[in-house]
Amino acid sequence: MELIVLFVGPGGSGKTVMAINLGILMGRMGYNTLLVDGDIYLPDMTEYLDMGAVRVTLHTLLKDPLVEPEAALYKLREYGVSVLPGSKELGQVVGAHTSLLIHVFEELSKEYALTFVDTPSGLPMDLLELYEIATHQVVVLDVERAGRGELPYTIHDQLEKYLFLDREERMEHGVILNNVQKVDPALIEDYIEETFEVPVLGVVPYDPHVPESVSLRRPLIVEFPHSDAAIAIKDAGKVIERWLFG
Ligand SMILES: Nc1ncnc2c1ncn2[C@@H]1O[C@H](COP(=O)(O)OP(=O)(O)O)[C@@H](O)[C@H]1O
Ligand SMILES: [Mg+2]
Repeated sequence: MELIVLFVGPGGSGKTVMAINLGILMGRMGYNTLLVDGDIYLPDMTEYLDMGAVRVTLHTLLKDPLVEPEAALYKLREYGVSVLPGSKELGQVVGAHTSLLIHVFEELSKEYALTFVDTPSGLPMDLLELYEIATHQVVVLDVERAGRGELPYTIHDQLEKYLFLDREERMEHGVILNNVQKVDPALIEDYIEETFEVPVLGVVPYDPHVPESVSLRRPLIVEFPHSDAAIAIKDAGKVIERWLFG
């Protein structure tokens, strides 16, 4: 079965960085991987990947069911993945029918072993239909954002909501802790695994190479493969491979 993995989380927690770098890692491991920019109002994958201006996008497909979904796919040979980008033009975004999402995803994902979907920050209310077909959800949490005393509550609140979106409890869920700097991740890991019985798939430190790679428009694992964050993402990649494929 084709796997569809949603990357969700609060604003700025690292969803786009994780989806892109983990997608490229999975591509390098030999899995035919599609990266989807599902951040339908503020898509930024074309910038993160320096793809320049793209004409046919996810928004085109959501406006016009007659356009072949393949027309919106861009194969990035250097990175070994295909990308379904979003449109930056408001005119394209307004009037996109999210009711067509399932159709588009069903069409496209069957060509790939893995489809990684980056989503809008917060709860992805415009993509709720995807919870009917997605198989996995990765919740990316910025652990330094909350005051330390409040941390369990913040995490509890956020995780609970993301897990609840899988109303029929048919998906697998996992967490990536990002931006780890001062907080002891082991405590949070135990808390999450005990309270929610959801695995922590990766612990990624705060690392200035991450914003630097973003401003260079190059994936972190390609540009700074030996940086602390890249090493942590590669470790997470191995865990995620087992989580996805057993
Ligand atoms: N581990 C990290 N260390 C330092 N900066 C990070 C880290 N992860 C993400 N960032 C930075 O945080 C910002 C938001 O990341 P992004 O992936 O775009 O978040 P989201 O997609 O969740 O809104 C980016 O500028 C990125 O460089
Ligand atoms: Mg993003």
